[in-house]
Amino acid sequence: MSDPILFFDLKTPARRLRADIEKRLTAILDHGAYIGGPEVTELEAQLAAFTGAKHALAVASGTDALVIALMGEEIGPGDAVFLPAFTYNATANAVLMTGATPVFVDVERETCNIDPGQLENAVERVVAEGTLKPKLVIAVDLYGQPANYPAIGAIAKRHRMAVLSDAAQALGGGQGNKRIGALCEMTATSFYPSKTLGAYGDGGAMFTDDPDRFERWSSIRWHGTDAAKKESIRVGLNGRLDSMQCAVVLSKLTIFEDELQARAAHAQRYRANLKGRVRMQEPAVDDRHAWGLFTVMVENRDAVQAKLKEQGVPSSVYYSMPLHRHKAFAPHAPAEPLVNCDWLADHVLSLPFHPYLTDEQIDRVSEALLKAV
Ligand SMILES: Cc1ncc(COP(=O)(O)O)c(C=O)c1O
Repeated sequence: MSDPILFFDLKTPARRLRADIEKRLTAILDHGAYIGGPEVTELEAQLAAFTGAKHALAVASGTDALVIALMGEEIGPGDAVFLPAFTYNATANAVLMTGATPVFVDVERETCNIDPGQLENAVERVVAEGTLKPKLVIAVDLYGQPANYPAIGAIAKRHRMAVLSDAAQALGGGQGNKRIGALCEMTATSFYPSKTLGAYGDGGAMFTDDPDRFERWSSIRWHGTDAAKKESIRVGLNGRLDSMQCAVVLSKLTIFEDELQARAAHAQRYRANLKGRVRMQEPAVDDRHAWGLFTVMVENRDAVQAKLKEQGVPSSVYYSMPLHRHKAFAPHAPAEPLVNCDWLADHVLSLPFHPYLTDEQIDRVSEALLKAV
């Protein structure tokens, strides 16, 4: 009997790093700085060096990273924030928490990311209507595939908007000679355990080259206080990442490049096995996909999932509903249909994917899928 195929494998890296993590956690028990310990600044320095961003800030979750970035831009009622409708609900929740209006935009079927042409149309519609002020674009790097930052950045610039990358699924990816974290003005990522760089609990980080933004984010993360943490100078929250989670992520960073290489090799193998037979998310030329997930598009998805299950292959759907169809966000559904979001929601299927798959397992999943479609 061959090894069971896991959709994600969180235990193998924990075994691989156990001695190192225990050492780091013991050091924290010894120094006692559970919040704001030296691990926090060490992690921030290493994340900035890894991404090439000038500043990195460790925060409590990917959601907090988005909320803090929006608060830092003073986004609020009357502002329009453009975002793809095919993403995790956290992207839209963050916008609505600020009181701003989310404007849902269609995505491309190939990359699954926001369609720059549709973004331009949506911005022009909001400008023509004249009730909301276009303020910000949130681009999501779905499944690890960087959004089209050159095109999105040009549209945003024409309309004097900033771009925030929701790279919760994409740390480790890149575009041209730059890495995620340095592709636009602001980046938010998540250290949710199954992400490319996962903590052992919740966590996240933010990136920018702008020292003023970094100063605002640092203040908002710590209840909106000044540098001396005495006076509240703006509204803030508790968005801190604790020393223990920082220590775990520091340990995970020691094997991150190795894990990213394994992800890229596994994705290549899946792609070679399935080429011409199954539709897949297509990485854009010049991009380095972080391969947070490996996603295909199939007809009769429920039946395909059932046939995979019969063959011992787990699979998952991210996401079966585009955001504008969720009850909480439906009041902001655009008048025009978002055809690609609807199509993807009916067709996407993510296959088992993590750095510790074997070639034999990837071949087994591929054969099972080819039999199932
Ligand atoms: C695209 C996207 N944005 C935001 C988040 C929120 O991250 P977190 O769960 O760390 O709050 C996630 C994570 O699940 C995500 O996938």
